[in-house]
Amino acid sequence: MRAVDLIRKKRDSGEHSREEIDFLVSGYTRGDIPDYQMAAWLMATWLRGLSLAETAALTEAMLHSGEVLDLSALPGKKVDKHSTGGVGDKTSLILAPIVAAGGLTVPMISGRGLGHTGGTLDKLESIPGFNVNLSLDQFRRVLRECGMGLIGQTAEIAPADKKIYALRDATSTVESIGLICASIMSKKLAEGIDALVLDVKTGSGAFMKREEDAVRLAEIMVDTGKRMGKKVVALITDMDQPLGRAAGHSSEIIECIEVLNGQGPADLRDLSIELSAWMFYLGERTKSLEEGRRLAETLIANGQAREKFNQGIKLQGGDERVIEEPQRLPKARSRVDVVSESDGYVTGTNCEHFGTALAMLGGGREKKEDAIDPGVALEFHKRIGDPVKKGETLATIHYNAEAKLAEAKSMIAASYLIALEPPREKPRLIRRVIGEQ
Ligand code: URA
Repeated sequence: MRAVDLIRKKRDSGEHSREEIDFLVSGYTRGDIPDYQMAAWLMATWLRGLSLAETAALTEAMLHSGEVLDLSALPGKKVDKHSTGGVGDKTSLILAPIVAAGGLTVPMISGRGLGHTGGTLDKLESIPGFNVNLSLDQFRRVLRECGMGLIGQTAEIAPADKKIYALRDATSTVESIGLICASIMSKKLAEGIDALVLDVKTGSGAFMKREEDAVRLAEIMVDTGKRMGKKVVALITDMDQPLGRAAGHSSEIIECIEVLNGQGPADLRDLSIELSAWMFYLGERTKSLEEGRRLAETLIANGQAREKFNQGIKLQGGDERVIEEPQRLPKARSRVDVVSESDGYVTGTNCEHFGTALAMLGGGREKKEDAIDPGVALEFHKRIGDPVKKGETLATIHYNAEAKLAEAKSMIAASYLIALEPPREKPRLIRRVIGEQ
């Protein structure tokens, strides 16, 4: 078999056999197939798509490129959540401590920023000392001690996804239902979990802009997980505007601490509670979703979730004092406001462009080897439906480098859609649930 023939086959809309997919995934993971051939295959796949059988074969090939964790020695159910990604999407750092404080184990293997979206690992690394590169033995020890652990793919866990994910990010081949399903489910199925809650984003800041595509992706992922014997549900949630008020690494950690302190933006808090409730329910910690919601709220109110976050940071080598003293997190030196040029109402946003502007300023990657500036942030002051006056601040940019500031600023200004009439409907945070048992 030759990679060049498989690239041609996909370019010409052919359907791969399981053996062909295995050849590509194992060859690329070993380093026998170079980046340029894999990049060409990814682009052909992005353009031509993958059948259900190809998606299942790709997911399994990526899953078996590494180890499947056996966490059966740890007590209780193991439950995780994964989001398809968005702007300001930081719920993992809130719900992992909530759910671990509630007695379940959360073995979370996360990704880095991808395209215009932020990544949990990059956010965690803005906490001084925080180590996302634990060995599997260290990961097990952390899980045993505090019930939550957040790491990146190790050489052992879905190594194929680690390589392919970085290549997709740099070749604009992210937004493909088959590739996203295989990427997410290979990591998650390798975690040794009993249940999984998927947060599938839809809207202008999501990879799946159209709700029907998000629903299709959700259905495929739920089906893949169930076929592997896991309890899985997917929530289709809004990404027509950023989640919360902040995007950018340190600033998102601060927002998570606010929510764990019982404050923070309502949309972020509500979604974190809802996802936690589903995790409690699927993990059989509560008998109903309603009981799950109440438990999540109680664990925030009594400080146990915050205490769990503190413990988790410390066990992974991070400076847990950031919880009391967020000023210890990296901060940008300068700030500038983006103001409205007209009176009216915010009727929508081009949310993806917020993520792109953040990346241009150093708060994301344009090439896979780029370093992230964790202090760079966007602070959003207006949401869809809000009235706005000419000259009023829409967003604040926190930046360190001037290089692309003017371009980023005009991109952000143009991303607020302002009209004289208010929008007929504000986006609903939770649109649908797929795969309810
Ligand atoms: N998150 C992932 O882990 N992979 C994708 O492809 C998209 C979002």
